[in-house]
Amino acid sequence: MSSRRRLGIGVVGFGWMGQAHSRSAARVASLFPERTFDVDLVVCSDNVASRRDQAIDGFGYREAVEDWRAVVDHPDVDVVYVTAPNMLHEDVSVAAAEAGRAVFCEKPVGGTPEQTVRIAAAAQAAGVITGVGYNYRWAPLVQHAKQLIDSGRLGEITNYRGRFFSAYGADPLGTLSWRYFVDQAGYGVSSDILSHAVDLATMLVGPIVSVAGTMETFIKQRPLPVAGGTHYARGAVGDPTGAVTNEDYAGALVVFENGARGTFEASRSVVGPESQMAFDVYGTRGALRWNLETMNEIDVFLVDADDQAPRGYTKVYAGDRYPYHGHFVPGDANAIGYEDLKVIENFEFLSAVAAGEQHQPGFAEAIDYVSFQAAWLRSCESRRWEEVVALGAH
Ligand SMILES: NC(=O)c1ccc[n+]([C@@H]2O[C@H](COP(=O)([O-])OP(=O)(O)OC[C@H]3O[C@@H](n4cnc5c(N)ncnc54)[C@H](O)[C@@H]3O)[C@@H](O)[C@H]2O)c1
Repeated sequence: MSSRRRLGIGVVGFGWMGQAHSRSAARVASLFPERTFDVDLVVCSDNVASRRDQAIDGFGYREAVEDWRAVVDHPDVDVVYVTAPNMLHEDVSVAAAEAGRAVFCEKPVGGTPEQTVRIAAAAQAAGVITGVGYNYRWAPLVQHAKQLIDSGRLGEITNYRGRFFSAYGADPLGTLSWRYFVDQAGYGVSSDILSHAVDLATMLVGPIVSVAGTMETFIKQRPLPVAGGTHYARGAVGDPTGAVTNEDYAGALVVFENGARGTFEASRSVVGPESQMAFDVYGTRGALRWNLETMNEIDVFLVDADDQAPRGYTKVYAGDRYPYHGHFVPGDANAIGYEDLKVIENFEFLSAVAAGEQHQPGFAEAIDYVSFQAAWLRSCESRRWEEVVALGAH
């Protein structure tokens, strides 16, 4: 008999992320033989019937239900994945924590900083293990960047440029999905994608202590969506439209605790970049640049003692010499993809659950981001620099 722990999985919201987590949790078994758990896909919830059918037929879930409470209350569920629109995160995550389940909530964990604080407090009071979907942390070359920075190879970090330019809303005919509504998503790109860029910077360089922010909504009306669509769906000219009620663009100037300076931009209505979740980091002895669009490459510049050496960035390809990569493909320059990051994320999170240990990034790291976001929101309002104040308990 296996000594691995059975972990019953329940998912709330079977769209892009609900499906990505289900597939990824199931893939851990063949990619990480050293795992300490076995995944059991128990039940998922969605209010769209075709998604429930797909959960049974395509993923092998035992049950698929409309009411998410049946997931949280299911006796065979150990872990609840909260992958519904942001404004549902609080009700589901708090109920799951109170039922004693480990809770993995997709970023940003709630639609507002106040909700994130309440969710984290409920999880802490219940003493449950938490996880948050800041998946770009797990990219093998991002892990390598972290090792280079921590080892001092870049010298002292002086400045950082983070951005997430996603084209999902670049077309004005892109439909008005839940992401564009303050009552379904909470904030706009500051919750949706700036969160990823700032989380990565916090991991690589450290906490941010002050911020000057700006925001704008460039496309104010969009065609109404049809049920079961994604945020990449398109309407047609002449379709009925509705108002966008949260921000398309977020910009920030920041000061890090270690004295480094930084800039961040996030946009969903930008034309040109497609999914440019990217950073440039500059130190006194070197620099790095990485971009999700070419996630299997990183450009590295190290100041060389030899004056005669050629100057410039060196392109480094991902490969099995870097963290996790060899679990997917052997050798150098054989690529991995976006969803492989979800597999790594699930391996790490479920390993923590099986061991009964808190996971990082968890709700404490979600609080770190919303503490920044709250200061950024104050700055957008005051048009002044604002200090980042730590919200909630860690
Ligand atoms: N980490 C990442 O890279 C990443 C990427 C995309 C989305 N996300 C996050 O994942 C979450 C979901 O986003 P998505 O892109 O998967 O959205 P989606 O629209 O594809 O999926 C959401 C699903 O929730 C369902 N739903 C809505 N109301 C429900 C209810 N009351 N009960 C049960 N199901 C309900 C919808 O029918 C839909 O199937 C968001 O919090 C988002 O911020 C994270």
